[in-house]
Amino acid sequence: MSHIIAPSLLASDFLHMADQIELINQSQADWLHVDVMDGVFVPNISFGQVLMPFIKKGCTKPLDVHLMIEQPERYVEEFVALGADIVTVHYEATRHLHRTIQQIKQAGAKAGVALNPHTSIQNIEDILEDIDLILIMSVNPGFGGQKFIYQTLPKVRKLKAMLEERNLNPHIEIDGGVGLANAESLLQAGADALVAGSSVFKSEDPVKTIESLKSIEKNKSY
Ligand code: DX5
Ligand code: ZN
Repeated sequence: MSHIIAPSLLASDFLHMADQIELINQSQADWLHVDVMDGVFVPNISFGQVLMPFIKKGCTKPLDVHLMIEQPERYVEEFVALGADIVTVHYEATRHLHRTIQQIKQAGAKAGVALNPHTSIQNIEDILEDIDLILIMSVNPGFGGQKFIYQTLPKVRKLKAMLEERNLNPHIEIDGGVGLANAESLLQAGADALVAGSSVFKSEDPVKTIESLKSIEKNKSY
């Protein structure tokens, strides 16, 4: 299966959100990435439940909801009810991660776990079997448009090896500073889902940029 491209709504023009979502519908994007920030877990506040029904109504692609909020267990069921297809919570934000994952799955969505740049993949070793997606943050969460942290590459390789050793196949999603310049190396390292905010929405032709990101082949020989 080819890799997944998930444009991040955070980088879109909110004044024209309907058009921006329609652009995603018309593109080769696989998912729409929805960044929810609470101003506590991360320094920024983005949007929350109030916007979800509108996004759901407009978007024909699965919603990949990234909760950057403290104690996400308080809200996961609500986000699933509002149309989230994947709910990703941060390892650093929930005390009983296993329980939170079960809550998401019982509510009927796929469950993801996000790791901040400083969080080692060893922390989730014992629950790998339970998760559908691992989101590796390649910037410190909170803002779009930041510079990609290069240590992400060895981290992804290590995670891929760990999963292969156990014959597990959850998505490995990378989020932050991803674009045409580093997408290929991330796919080579083992990622199969790329979040792209600024590199898509701030480009001249977002649909074309998505197409270019989608058509990157890993293991291409030159
Ligand atoms: C950052 C968010 C990202 C962000 C990515 O905290 O989780 O999803 O929108 O934006 P870019 O691609 O611009 O780094
Ligand atoms: Zn995100």
